[in-house]
Amino acid sequence: MPGETARGSAEAEKRLAAARAVELVRDGMVVGLGTGSTASEAIRLLGDRVKDGLRIRGVPTSEVTRKLARECGIPMVGLGDVPRVDVTIDGADEIDPQMRLIKGGGGALLREKIVASASGMLIIIADASKVVQQLGAFPLPVEVVPFALAPVKRAIEKLGAKVVLRGGDNAPYVTVDGHFILDCAFKRIEEPEALAATLAATPGVVDTGLFLGMADMIVIGRADQVKTYKRPKAQNQP
Ligand code: 5RP
Repeated sequence: MPGETARGSAEAEKRLAAARAVELVRDGMVVGLGTGSTASEAIRLLGDRVKDGLRIRGVPTSEVTRKLARECGIPMVGLGDVPRVDVTIDGADEIDPQMRLIKGGGGALLREKIVASASGMLIIIADASKVVQQLGAFPLPVEVVPFALAPVKRAIEKLGAKVVLRGGDNAPYVTVDGHFILDCAFKRIEEPEALAATLAATPGVVDTGLFLGMADMIVIGRADQVKTYKRPKAQNQP
């Protein structure tokens, strides 16, 4: 991923990446539908394939995505209706060389992580601006139970981040599950796994936008090219 410089428009790169991922969807699959502008490109392309006869069922990760998928004619199911999700296609805010991600810029991180975890395969699609050497320039979204807002904010500030309540104190953004989001500007996250563990152990933290060891494939649009990166199989896997 690193070391490439030529750029096209971000929108064109998103479409290219989305198109490559959508090619991997087969008849009969249950497809996790991500949230955000890049995932929306994939949903529109999936909708075109559904109109051409592809039979899939989608699991939306947000209400915005549910509405778009409905407009695109994609039949939808809930996680309780299917034994598992075959593949999820979603975007990301940052992607590092180890395929670790920051997600949640669109506020859907919790459901995105739940659907991704229920999926046989997670494909992340993005324009080239999302590729970074080190996570952390994008403020890390942390989803919090409202009652715990003050102590969680203080705890994260002690870790060295500048912490902002999404939407502001007067009109905080409330997730579909009734939580708040703290956007935590760490600038550089030296050890994403350690930070994820620390945050997960903080009472009141519901989840974070760190998606570690979850992406199976990353598809990046860069200028007029698409590059695909696969997660190496674990050594003890057949
Ligand atoms: C939403 C997300 C999005 O996937 C992420 O913010 C990327 O969005 P976009 O494709 O619009 O750049 O995590 O919660």
